Amino acid sequence: MEDAKEEIKTRLSIEDVVGQYIELKRAGRTLKGRSPWGVDKTPSFMVSPEKGIWHDFSANKGGDVFSFVMEVEGISFREALEKLAAQAGVELQKYSVGDKKIAQKKARAKEVLELATKYYQVALMKNKSVCEYVFYKRNMSRATVKEFRIGYSPSVGRALKAFLEKKGFSKNEMKDAGLLNQYDGDLFRGRMMVPFIDTNGQVIGYTGRILGDGEPKYLNTPETLLFNKSRFIFGLYHAKEAIRRNNYIVIVEGNMDVISSHQAGVRQTVATSGTAMTEQHLKIISHLTNDVRLAYDGDDAGVSATERAINIAGNMGINLSVISDYHGAKDPDELIQKDPELWKKAVESCKPAVDWLLDKYEEKLDLLSARGKKEYSDIAMKLISYLSDPVVRKHYEQNVAKRLDVSVEDLQQKKISTSTVKRLKPIKNKESQAKRVKFLEDSLMAIMIFGGEAGREINLELPNDEVRIEELSLIYDTKYKNQPTGELKKDVKDMLKQYQQETKSAKIAELTEELEKYEDDDEKSKDILREIQKLQKG
Ligand code: UTP
Ligand code: MN
Repeated sequence: MEDAKEEIKTRLSIEDVVGQYIELKRAGRTLKGRSPWGVDKTPSFMVSPEKGIWHDFSANKGGDVFSFVMEVEGISFREALEKLAAQAGVELQKYSVGDKKIAQKKARAKEVLELATKYYQVALMKNKSVCEYVFYKRNMSRATVKEFRIGYSPSVGRALKAFLEKKGFSKNEMKDAGLLNQYDGDLFRGRMMVPFIDTNGQVIGYTGRILGDGEPKYLNTPETLLFNKSRFIFGLYHAKEAIRRNNYIVIVEGNMDVISSHQAGVRQTVATSGTAMTEQHLKIISHLTNDVRLAYDGDDAGVSATERAINIAGNMGINLSVISDYHGAKDPDELIQKDPELWKKAVESCKPAVDWLLDKYEEKLDLLSARGKKEYSDIAMKLISYLSDPVVRKHYEQNVAKRLDVSVEDLQQKKISTSTVKRLKPIKNKESQAKRVKFLEDSLMAIMIFGGEAGREINLELPNDEVRIEELSLIYDTKYKNQPTGELKKDVKDMLKQYQQETKSAKIAELTEELEKYEDDDEKSKDILREIQKLQKG
């Protein structure tokens, strides 16, 4: 693994890799450019070709060529390694015996999916009534169908399987790729096929839509070696360029909304496919832009999805807003079919998410009654507690106070009186807790970096220093290397749970201690209480 990293570093120059994303100009021994995170006015991004490192003085991050690709693409270390290995012409399998089998399986799965996609594409063109659905009913252009690689899965039970068998793929290989059902027949039958394309442009799965009415409307590839639905973002491969150019992203609910939006020229649009937004989704997105616009339905589900997103986005430095002006259409796709210009306008005229939610609740509740006021202030204060910036919080407290015709002090009073924090006792045994956290951190980080598939769920910040990575590699080799992937995955799950609990209670203990220090400072203790409450809820 270390050898593979070194080999890649000697074959690729950091300025060439960074130069794919940023325009660099030489300034003495270093190169300078603008921050890809778009916060600098003068070039504050530096590359040192001699040392093989970069540093971004405006965003305060830096590292080697791997961390750069991770940050800028929003991908894991493993993915960055694979990407750069491909660019450098380094065969990773040669370097890592433990990963060899999985890497081979993944490679075969990609091959079989590529072939299946081509098969589905041909099948679409051969079927007149399916073409009618795709080109006329869904109104997709030829260019869109080509770009998104739309296809059709024939309704005959084993058509794809028979085709792939002839091409030399085994049943197990098809299964690994998620193409077969429990009876080993084709999983997708008689559906319009929309490939899931990863950020390298490779097909990793599908969503298949039934052509008429019926259940389920969409059938999705199950979790496989390649497809992980809590990380996958539909449309990102096609949207990346436009996100960088516009410096914002639009998130819609449906995959078809993404495709229509792209066709309408709003190409910075993606969807979380068939699942609610997760922290991992937002983390990936936060590397690309911090202006995130949600286009969810205005119904109750849309409201709670938006609340959820605010909660997750709270301490990631993301500005969330909501696109809601649909002119009576049920989703972006329908609006675009009516008039693409209306969709463009809606995207431009979005509202900060908190304002949108406060308006929604104001519509729903009677703010003149005592009960309505109580309910509204409960909801509003909870919402505000998700926000991490004290100035922004203050802004909304004043806003809510105004809506309720009460003072800001009344609102804050309410917060403290509902607090449960008073019962808290400081946790003893601080040392042993710190040790446990360190142990879990070491193990998890080691598996994240070196454990391949087993480390996929782990999302810790990667250490920059070589010595630390060496240390982790040693930990991995001595403790985890010989454990079967399935078992290791279970361990990881347990350790992650423990780690979250431990770090949370450590943080609460720390805050409780602080609370005692600031006993006389009302403002400050309110802030601390708020943080503690947030942790307890989360
Ligand atoms: P919708 O039911 O809103 O579908 O589901 P849609 O995008 O408007 O689709 P069309 O226009 O009727 O074809 C939104 C998303 O929820 C997931 C899919 O990802 C879909 O894009 N979904 C929905 C499923 O995964 N399975 C289903 O059966 C339904
Ligand atoms: Mn729709």
